[in-house]
Amino acid sequence: MKTRSLKILRNAEGYVSGQAICEQLGVSRTAVWKVINQLKEEGYEFDAVSNKGYRIVKYPDILTQSEIESQLSGGEIVKKVVYYDKTDSTNNRAKQAAEEGASSGTLFITERQTGGRGRRGRSWVSPKGSGIWMTLLLRPDIRPDAASMLTIVAAMAVAGAVSGVIGKDTVGVGAAGLEEQKKCFIKWPNDIVLGEKKICGILTEMSAEPEMINYVAVGIGINVNTENFDEAIRDTASSIFVQTGVRVKRSEIVALFAREFTRYYDSFISTGDLSLLMDDYNKMLINAGRTVRIENGGNVYTAKAVGIDSCGRLAVKDENGAASKIIAGEVSVRGLYGYV
Ligand code: BTN
Repeated sequence: MKTRSLKILRNAEGYVSGQAICEQLGVSRTAVWKVINQLKEEGYEFDAVSNKGYRIVKYPDILTQSEIESQLSGGEIVKKVVYYDKTDSTNNRAKQAAEEGASSGTLFITERQTGGRGRRGRSWVSPKGSGIWMTLLLRPDIRPDAASMLTIVAAMAVAGAVSGVIGKDTVGVGAAGLEEQKKCFIKWPNDIVLGEKKICGILTEMSAEPEMINYVAVGIGINVNTENFDEAIRDTASSIFVQTGVRVKRSEIVALFAREFTRYYDSFISTGDLSLLMDDYNKMLINAGRTVRIENGGNVYTAKAVGIDSCGRLAVKDENGAASKIIAGEVSVRGLYGYV
């Protein structure tokens, strides 16, 4: 009832009377009054005028189930939000819930992670209030070897959502709006980059049989307001606030992510690959046309990045013009002089 009340108040043009909420939800005046008080305790600020009703004048920067679900239309892949004030890792929560039968489309989100995990066994610093730490549980009917492409789908959705919230038309090549360094790009395969620094990482984990997927947990960490970074990552990591000077409401990014992900996911599922998405992805790809340093075990070489193919492999050309394709997870790609 809190989510539905919040949705009515959020979508209203002006004031909404307590009576109107009672009638729409079929509940008592006392129940509505209790919900308004709960919302006030969570940090929502109201303008209440007799004979007119309530209007929200200030939204808190919180990530609760009601705050996010009240911004969803119902048409998104994200169907349900499970919120924790604190947990070890939302990937752990998603995987555990998946084993216990949780449905596809459940989004696990927390204000703070105590054991956030990154790729290659690294840890992911996830302090309170400063970022979005979330994991989307999916049960796609695709081959297990296609699951890694979901990470690319998620990266596109994050880039679209961050761009949409910090300023329209700021995603990828040729976009107008913010200065060049404020545009949102993707570093292959799935780091989100603002001003040449990483603001988001994605850790996808899967449980599968030889021919079918049980579940996929797409874990996403977005540095939104973080201002201080550990020495070890200071050169490569940043946040939306540091790069743009803009403070955004984190729940707006999550809600827009849900919409963007749905659009890209539907295209991906319709073909089972990235053939309908690769052109859009390549426009967001910061490495496109740049020389990259590729580390494949002991083999280190430089090549020019061209773009991804329909499977998400990065096509590159070495200095003799020889073309090859590299597979995510097997190699590390960096810029010649820095992170990109
Ligand atoms: C990377 O190393 O780039 C991937 C980082 C992924 C971090 C996110 S935060 C939410 C989810 N829970 C985790 O423990 N990790 C992912």
